[in-house]
Amino acid sequence: MNTLPQTVTQVFQNRFGEPPTFVVRAPGRVNLIGEHTDYNDGFVLPLAIDRAIWIALRPRTDREVHIHSHDFDETAVFHLDRLFKETDHWLEYPKGVAWALQEDGYQLTGWEGVMAGNIPKGAGLSSSAALELATARAFTAVTNHLWDPAAMALLCQKAENRWVGVNCGIMDQMISAAGQEGHALLIDCRTLETKAVPLPTGTAVVVLDTNTRRGLVDSAYNERRAQCDEASKFFGVPYLRDVSITDFLSSEDQLKPLIRQRARHVVSENIRVLNAVTAMLNDDAEMLGTLMNQSHLSLRDDFEVSSQELNVMVELAQAQPGCYGARMTGAGFGGCAVALVAAKTTGAFTQSITTAYQQATGLTPAIYVCQPAAGASVMG
Ligand code: GLA
Repeated sequence: MNTLPQTVTQVFQNRFGEPPTFVVRAPGRVNLIGEHTDYNDGFVLPLAIDRAIWIALRPRTDREVHIHSHDFDETAVFHLDRLFKETDHWLEYPKGVAWALQEDGYQLTGWEGVMAGNIPKGAGLSSSAALELATARAFTAVTNHLWDPAAMALLCQKAENRWVGVNCGIMDQMISAAGQEGHALLIDCRTLETKAVPLPTGTAVVVLDTNTRRGLVDSAYNERRAQCDEASKFFGVPYLRDVSITDFLSSEDQLKPLIRQRARHVVSENIRVLNAVTAMLNDDAEMLGTLMNQSHLSLRDDFEVSSQELNVMVELAQAQPGCYGARMTGAGFGGCAVALVAAKTTGAFTQSITTAYQQATGLTPAIYVCQPAAGASVMG
C-alpha cells in the first residue's frame, strides 16, 4: 500500500495542527507507443503509472501559496498577484500553473500545503507534468472549479512551454490529467479525444530506467520538431498527422534524406499506435509487443533519438522469456525503456535484466513494474 498520502496528511497535521481540507494527487506516466507524434498532431498511447505527487492542503484567506516539499525539506512561497520568473527551482512549476490559470481568467485563491512524491525525477516519467497537474488540481479544489482534464492539461502545457520554457507536446500533461485506472489511453493529440484501452490479459508494463541522463535533450528535441515542420511544409499540410502512408511513399524520393527519415518515423508511428489499439482490443499481446519492437527500430534508426544504453536495455529485454516487446520511451537520449511482459514472469524478468544490464554497461538500472493508474484526482 502506498504510504505517501498518509505521509503528506501526517506532516500537514504536524505543521498546521489540523487535518488537511483536501489531499490531491497527479500521476507520472509511461508511454506504451506513439513517440514524438504528439507535437505532430498525431496519436499516443501512454498510461498513468502508480507513482504520483500528492499535496495535502487547506485554503488561505489571502492570495499567497505556501508549499512545503517533504522531499526537499523546504518551504517555498509565492503571491498570486506578484508572479515573477526566477531561477531553476521546483516552485517554477506551481507558479507557472498559477500564471496560466490566471491568464485564462480563473479567479484563484491562496492555499498552503505539504507535498511529496515518488516519481523519479529526470527519468522521463513526467514528474514535472505531475507537479503541474497536482498544482492545478489543488487550485481547482480550493476554488471549487469544475475539473476539465483536457482544459487543465492544455493550461499546464502552456505553463511548461511559456513559463518553464520547455517546448513539450501535450502527451504528458494529458495523461496525468486524464489517465484511467487499469488502462492505457489512446489520445488524439489534435482533438484531445481519448479512448481507454485495457492491457492484454496477463501482461504487465515494466519501466526500465537505464540510469543515464543526457544534457542537450532540449536542443535535440527542438531540432526534431523543426525537421518535422520542414517535412509537413514539403507535403503542404499543417502537421505530419495529415500525411498518409500513400502520400509519403509517392513523394518521399523528393525529400532530403534526413527529413525523409524523420517523416517516415512519424507517419509509420501513427499507424503503429492505431494498430496497437486494435491489438489490445483483440487481447493480442504478441502483436502489441511486435509493434513496440518496430517502434524502437524506427526511433533508433529513422528518428535517431535512442542511445547506446537504451539500445542495450531494449535488446536485453526483448531477449528475456516472457517479454512480448520493448522500446525506448519518452523523449529519448537516455532515461527509460518500456517492456510488455507476461505478468507471471515479472519477478524473474526484473532479476535477470538487472544482472544482464549491469554486466553489459557497468550501470545499475532501476526497474518498476507499473499498474495503470487514474489521472489527477482529489482523494476521497
Ligand atoms: C517528451 C515530451 C512529450 C513528447 C515526448 C516524445 O516526453 O514532453 O510531449 O513529445 O517527449 O514522444
